[in-house]
Amino acid sequence: MSVHSSASIKRITTHILQEMKQRGEKISMLTAYDYSMAKIVDAAGIDIILVGDSASNVMAGHETTLPITLDQMIYHASSVVRAVKRSFVVVDIPFGSYQGNSSEALRSAIRIMKESGAHAVKVEGGAEIKESVVRILSAGVPVMGHLGLTPQSIYKFGTYTVRAKEDAEAAKLLEDAKILEECGCFAIVLEKIPAALAKKVAETVSIPVIGIGAGGDVDGQVLVMHDMLGITQEFKPRFLRQYADLQQVMTDAFKNYIQDVKSQHFPNDSESY
Ligand code: KIV
Repeated sequence: MSVHSSASIKRITTHILQEMKQRGEKISMLTAYDYSMAKIVDAAGIDIILVGDSASNVMAGHETTLPITLDQMIYHASSVVRAVKRSFVVVDIPFGSYQGNSSEALRSAIRIMKESGAHAVKVEGGAEIKESVVRILSAGVPVMGHLGLTPQSIYKFGTYTVRAKEDAEAAKLLEDAKILEECGCFAIVLEKIPAALAKKVAETVSIPVIGIGAGGDVDGQVLVMHDMLGITQEFKPRFLRQYADLQQVMTDAFKNYIQDVKSQHFPNDSESY
């Protein structure tokens, strides 16, 4: 581990992320979807902010990530970008905006970059979306891949259980990671796969590999902000470490406020004009 901490660097870039992998400094990544949260997480020193399509779940209350639209992703991304001074901002291209049509993929990526001011996009899949990845990269837009449990394909999988436990799926995942690297992706997210496989991928490819439910032997970690803050309480997979219980903190604050309003303890004289 280097003594040269990334916290002293002004603005995170793909180049800096690559250097962090090379010197063994782990990359921290969290999701954010709005200005206020992004401002706090950026100031705390996070390396990458992902404007994930998990916004579909935690911001909009949908069961899956599929319904969120490109316009909605751009709205969330532009709110995040306005808050950020140091972090590298990556935006998910939503379901239906890049699969199977590389021209549409390019158009979607360009809209995200132009209209939100983000720094990169993320797409789910390997060989099957290669053409789209290459097309986006050809426009100079950095691309992050996403393999393993890819929530946009949840109806194909039928379940949110661990992926690539069988040899054939593990071999395809490793091949897909190599393809994404060869295409020019700057990093890959691996979601919910065996730790040994994730380690192998991180050792095989030269680009940073960021895990979520993929063990500790990768180049960095990502969590969904609402899950790690304990705002969402119903989602508790094994990989999730909850760093706060904000649902309790917020409920207490709301209850105290309601009580103060009802009992006329708020506002008092010093809170009035
Ligand atoms: O949308 C998202 O939040 C993600 C992370 C789970 C990696 O893709």
